[in-house]
Amino acid sequence: MILVTGGAGFIGANFVLDWLSVSDEPVVNLDALTYAGNLENLASLKGDPRHIFVQGDICDRELVDRLFAEHQPRAIVHFAAESHVDRSIHGPGDFVRTNVTGTFTLLEAARGHWMSLDEAGKAAFRFHHVSTDEVYGSLGPNDPAFSETKTYEPNSPYSASKAASDHLVRAWHHTYGLPVTTSNCSNNYGPYHFPEKLIPLMIANALAGKPLPVYGDGQQIRDWLYVTDHCSAIRAVLAQGTPGEVYNVGGWNEKPNIEIVHTLCALLDELKPDPAGSYTRLITYVTDRPGHDRRYAIDARKIERELGWRPAETFETGIRKTVQWYLANQEWVAHILSGAYRDWVETNYAAR
Ligand code: NAD
Ligand code: DAU
Repeated sequence: MILVTGGAGFIGANFVLDWLSVSDEPVVNLDALTYAGNLENLASLKGDPRHIFVQGDICDRELVDRLFAEHQPRAIVHFAAESHVDRSIHGPGDFVRTNVTGTFTLLEAARGHWMSLDEAGKAAFRFHHVSTDEVYGSLGPNDPAFSETKTYEPNSPYSASKAASDHLVRAWHHTYGLPVTTSNCSNNYGPYHFPEKLIPLMIANALAGKPLPVYGDGQQIRDWLYVTDHCSAIRAVLAQGTPGEVYNVGGWNEKPNIEIVHTLCALLDELKPDPAGSYTRLITYVTDRPGHDRRYAIDARKIERELGWRPAETFETGIRKTVQWYLANQEWVAHILSGAYRDWVETNYAAR
């Protein structure tokens, strides 16, 4: 059995679904169900005994100790985090709490559990930490893509808190010998992506006839990876990764934001044409994000070379699947848009 944290969020839920589609090894899923956690993401697992959901906080040491003692997981895959850069600018406290203190709590609980194992159990145990390319900072137009040896230069409260968590994970290996692995991945997209992030926000706004808010000049570059390719990369690291090692994960898909928005408009024009005209009419340039990183790009050669991992989707196939998924799952989107989401839209966009 494995313990997953944050398995009701975007990537965590995709991971749990993907894991149970290729393996019968049960998953204990610990998630606090913050605004970003959504059990509807896991509705297809209802009644499946291989999925044990526990609502709880990764900062709750007693609870985490109990889960280790009860379920004796052979590995933990740690997704739980506050993940949205804009929210970290408006309220960084939750990011330090969950991303730093939460990771510390899990590391200590995992260390306690690991120490209790026999030699074979100790050697087999893994703590996999899911991190981000944002810890490396921002690239210039001609800089090489981020490799695993790139210096850390986090620029937002979010990326700084993730960088801190990466350092804790590294130290728990170096000092205590805990068998950890870390993956630093580029921007994910796909089903169940919370509509505060660029791609699902643009799709939701376009379908509602609302402005498509492009920050600054729209020329910031992100490196996009379809979410199930991230899941397969994590499975590969868990199965074959070397303790203490870091693996960068990306799809070699660098795109400026404005190109992403135009691609989404073109797909929507094809799949759900609006009688009022092309969705591009809704594109609106708005005040930039403070401290906005200009470019991210991942050099994924290490995981490709050492673990034989390759993404299955191209950007063209992945983005089409994504738009089709959102068109087919409007109810899922509607449930989110009707809640506290409205307050967030007011906080982030009203003054732009
Ligand atoms: P998300 O915001 O969609 O989901 C986060 C999940 O963590 C939610 O289900 C939430 O309820 C849960 N959570 C938050 N605080 C918690 C706490 N204190 N205790 C227990 N659960 C808690 O995030 P995501 O986009 O799925 O990202 C998952 C992980 O992947 C994060 O660690 C993020 O840094 C990393 N990552 C994300 C991307 C991306 O493009 N989204 C890319 C690279 C790495
Ligand atoms: O790079 C990996 C990271 O990708 C993850 O670690 C984060 O958890 C994840 O949220 C994501 O961070 P970004 O800040 O890159 O993602 P976001 O979707 O918020 O924004 C993508 C780009 O689009 C970024 O340059 C900001 C821009 N943007 C975003 C929003 C929400 C806009 O222009 N308008 C918007 O309304």
